[in-house]
Amino acid sequence: METVAFFDTKSYDKVWFDRLKHRHGIDLKYYDNRLNRDTAIMASGCRAVVAFVTDQIDAPTIDMLRRVGVEAVSLRSAGYNHVDLRYAEGKLRIFRVPAYAPNAVAEHAMALLLCLNRKVHRAYNRVREYNFSLKGLIGFDLKGKTVGVVGTGKIGLAFIDICLGFGMKVLACDPQPAWGRGVEYVSFPDLCRRSDVISLHCPLTRDSYHLISRHALRIMKEGVVILNTSRGALIDAEALLDAIKHGKVSAAGLDVYEEESDFFYEDVSENVIRDDKLKLLLATPNVLVTSHQGFLTDEALREIAAVTLQNLADYFAGRAVENEVFAQGRAKAL
Ligand code: NAI
Repeated sequence: METVAFFDTKSYDKVWFDRLKHRHGIDLKYYDNRLNRDTAIMASGCRAVVAFVTDQIDAPTIDMLRRVGVEAVSLRSAGYNHVDLRYAEGKLRIFRVPAYAPNAVAEHAMALLLCLNRKVHRAYNRVREYNFSLKGLIGFDLKGKTVGVVGTGKIGLAFIDICLGFGMKVLACDPQPAWGRGVEYVSFPDLCRRSDVISLHCPLTRDSYHLISRHALRIMKEGVVILNTSRGALIDAEALLDAIKHGKVSAAGLDVYEEESDFFYEDVSENVIRDDKLKLLLATPNVLVTSHQGFLTDEALREIAAVTLQNLADYFAGRAVENEVFAQGRAKAL
């Protein structure tokens, strides 16, 4: 039985990891702490650690993990932009879970859209105080409206299928189009000009940083709805707040936020929030913020645990690990 240190443990992580770990001959030492240069020492005696997107796997952390005998990091996430892959090369093996929740994230994006459009969050609060007025609760039919989907990978395609089910017209942009489904591929500026709803499903890269910029917002339709379940830094939040203030954007559903690592996943209700942009977003009734929970379904949690443990079991058994991530930034199937 190999013991593996598990960082930034949340109660919902344990449900499936505890059920599946022994099947893979693995025991887990759960730590609440995030993995970083100061906490890496807690992995002493383990050949591997399980880490999340909130962990900071930079050069000093990698050095400390090596020093205490760790050989591999199994990420329980798809993203790995929190790992210094170049520095890790030749020192630590890095594994990930490439796809675990396309439907979960796509359904969450639609949940945000439906809630915002039909103002369910406002109605819920209102009727609890016996205010049964309908004033200000007008929405619009999704059927016949145009949705612009930025990034048509696994999640983007799942979202498109949902939108087609609602009778929406779908525009998309992606440097690698997935033809079919009756989707019209257009340039990003064209998508901005023509969409009633824009949903982001592309990764955060140097090219896509602040993709929703002041300029992009300027060319969008009046009253556009913006959804972001991908990465916070795809949107210039200050420009978004201005566009909301001037009515250009009628609603925004945000499961991610550029500075989310200081708040998301934690209860900070007893602290003073010093992030004015986040405070403004939270105070705006036509903005819905959720705490990066798009992936949080039972099915996705099971898949995350199963693949993370399989990656570790393959590594410990000396087999090729299908989901290894390499320094060139591409996860390569061996
Ligand atoms: P994927 O790799 O299957 O698809 C991404 C697509 O985006 C690819 O087709 C790629 O060609 C395209 N793309 C890259 N740069 C682009 C650009 N500048 N403009 C338009 N398209 C571009 O990834 P998947 O699994 O669909 O995930 C998408 C994103 O969802 C991830 O990058 C991640 O940020 C986010 N995510 C969010 C979760 C949540 O809980 N909210 C959970 C999992 C992923």
